[in-house]
Amino acid sequence: MTKSIVVTGANRGIGLEFVKLYCRRGDKVYAVCRQSSAALAETGADIIDGVDVGSEACAARLREGLANVRVQLLINNAGILRDEKLGELNYATIEDQFHINTLGPLRVTEALLDNLEEGAKIALITSRMGSIADNSSGGRYGYRISKAALNIAGVSLAHDLKPRGIAVALLHPGYVATDMVGGRGDISPELAAERLAARIDELNLGNSGSFWHSNGELLPW
Ligand SMILES: NC(=O)c1ccc[n+]([C@@H]2O[C@H](COP(=O)([O-])OP(=O)(O)OC[C@H]3O[C@@H](n4cnc5c(N)ncnc54)[C@H](OP(=O)(O)O)[C@@H]3O)[C@@H](O)[C@H]2O)c1
Repeated sequence: MTKSIVVTGANRGIGLEFVKLYCRRGDKVYAVCRQSSAALAETGADIIDGVDVGSEACAARLREGLANVRVQLLINNAGILRDEKLGELNYATIEDQFHINTLGPLRVTEALLDNLEEGAKIALITSRMGSIADNSSGGRYGYRISKAALNIAGVSLAHDLKPRGIAVALLHPGYVATDMVGGRGDISPELAAERLAARIDELNLGNSGSFWHSNGELLPW
């Protein structure tokens, strides 16, 4: 059955590969971005641009772009990575990451609550850098804070949406060769999207609220 799928951060990186993958599967994809790209335009997805997930105005733009659309899968993928060092912490970049990486997915999800069908799924693309147990190297204050906060918000979403039959996954893509990491990384964005989609396929109400690596490993909080 054709599904309606919403992907944020769809113009490049892992988000763009999600769009390509679900378009190949024959799903109806709504590609949400601030500004489209040539590669995104080629996919044939419906493009909803002008959506900055770090701004409150994104909710109205999303509701307008997705009016009357029943959504079976929402992938909150948009995110940023900045760097801060102790002794010279940049509180502005820490706040930016919190607004985009933590509040962004919450804003998008809340804006689309009425669009999400019973039995729908929500994927939150987080990072193992948000794992407290896995933090063996320190640093990256803003990114770690924002993704740890996203993780706990995701668990609350899983609890709150269970009565509506909606399952929520917290997914770490792996170390992926995108702009975010200067093109370095162990795997391509195509492979990351493929693996993440496999995890989303396995998501159900029984395992909702879990934190997985895209390779299937369950990650510690
Ligand atoms: N790459 C990795 O190794 C890695 C590892 C762990 C987790 N992740 C997570 O995976 C997700 C995707 O990252 P990526 O590697 O594909 O990074 P990327 O290539 O830098 O892409 C980031 C995407 O997020 C969008 N975005 C950034 N700020 C936004 C905003 N304020 N409003 C709307 N969209 C915004 C970007 O759009 P613009 O073009 O408009 O900036 C772009 O589409 C992120 O959540 C990231 O934290 C990545």
